[in-house]
Amino acid sequence: MQTVDAKGARIPIIGLGTWELRERTCARIVEQALRLGYRHLDTAQAYENEREVGEGLHASGVKRGEVFVTTKVRPANFAPRDLERSAKESLVKLRLSEVDLLLLHWPSTQVPLADTMGALCRMKALGLTRHIGVSNFTVALIEEAVGLATEPLVTNQIECHAYLDSSKVIAACRRHGLAVTAYSPIARGRVTGDDLLTRIASAHGKTAGQVALRFLVQQDIIVIPRTSKLERLTENFDIFDFALTDAEMTAIRGLAHPNGRIVNVSWAPQWD
Ligand SMILES: NC(=O)c1ccc[n+]([C@@H]2O[C@H](COP(=O)([O-])OP(=O)(O)OC[C@H]3O[C@@H](n4cnc5c(N)ncnc54)[C@H](OP(=O)(O)O)[C@@H]3O)[C@@H](O)[C@H]2O)c1
Repeated sequence: MQTVDAKGARIPIIGLGTWELRERTCARIVEQALRLGYRHLDTAQAYENEREVGEGLHASGVKRGEVFVTTKVRPANFAPRDLERSAKESLVKLRLSEVDLLLLHWPSTQVPLADTMGALCRMKALGLTRHIGVSNFTVALIEEAVGLATEPLVTNQIECHAYLDSSKVIAACRRHGLAVTAYSPIARGRVTGDDLLTRIASAHGKTAGQVALRFLVQQDIIVIPRTSKLERLTENFDIFDFALTDAEMTAIRGLAHPNGRIVNVSWAPQWD
């Protein structure tokens, strides 16, 4: 399994996204993904599926030490005492003694970042997580977080795909040694039917979804595509036996446009 290494963390470059996967579907997809070779799972308190992700993980028979498990703290739990309590609750639901990565899910306007960052670092010191990081942090917030953290931040998980120019925030991550984790890497399925991606895909005997993922992986960006369909688990994982040419990479970069963002919620950061 190809990894992205950041400050002592070895993060499998592809993981399974689990937002909106619920109950038996969630547990079954997680179990199948691990059986197919996935070694990285992405969940969050806000997805309300940590229990099912844990079920799938334990049912898979794959050894705990071989799977990189990420969960994220809800901003409502960013006050230090809440953060510790909720991180422990996440572990109970997942049936794990520690996660591999604990992220702040998105920036809070309520709790000062200094307080939250202190508490997040303490979660690592307490052994509740092996690594810590952030999500949806802008360039300015990355700078602030890195300045406050007493433990290394290993990733910033951000919306990142062919239709969005995330180059400034990616550059800031790289400056500070954070890996970039791309969420919505296949633009929530919008890549299907894209003329350019389909043309490139057919030249390689692949699908548009696979090209969209390969485009990111080839930039050393971690991808966490989600699917509820068994056949797509295989499709999304089968991206390591071909390479896009420089010309193809440049052409795909040209798909980015100012309205390319998919996650349009109030807290979603604007990178510029
Ligand atoms: N940190 C954050 O704030 C944040 C925000 C959003 C997401 N995330 C994480 O990132 C993960 C992935 O992002 P996402 O779920 O937003 O979007 P995504 O992975 O880009 O897209 C998922 C959607 O695309 C479809 N799909 C999957 N594989 C496909 C393929 N090969 N071709 C065409 N369509 C395909 C899926 O439908 P089917 O189920 O029908 O296959 C699903 O509707 C999430 O699940 C979550 O773990 C994090």
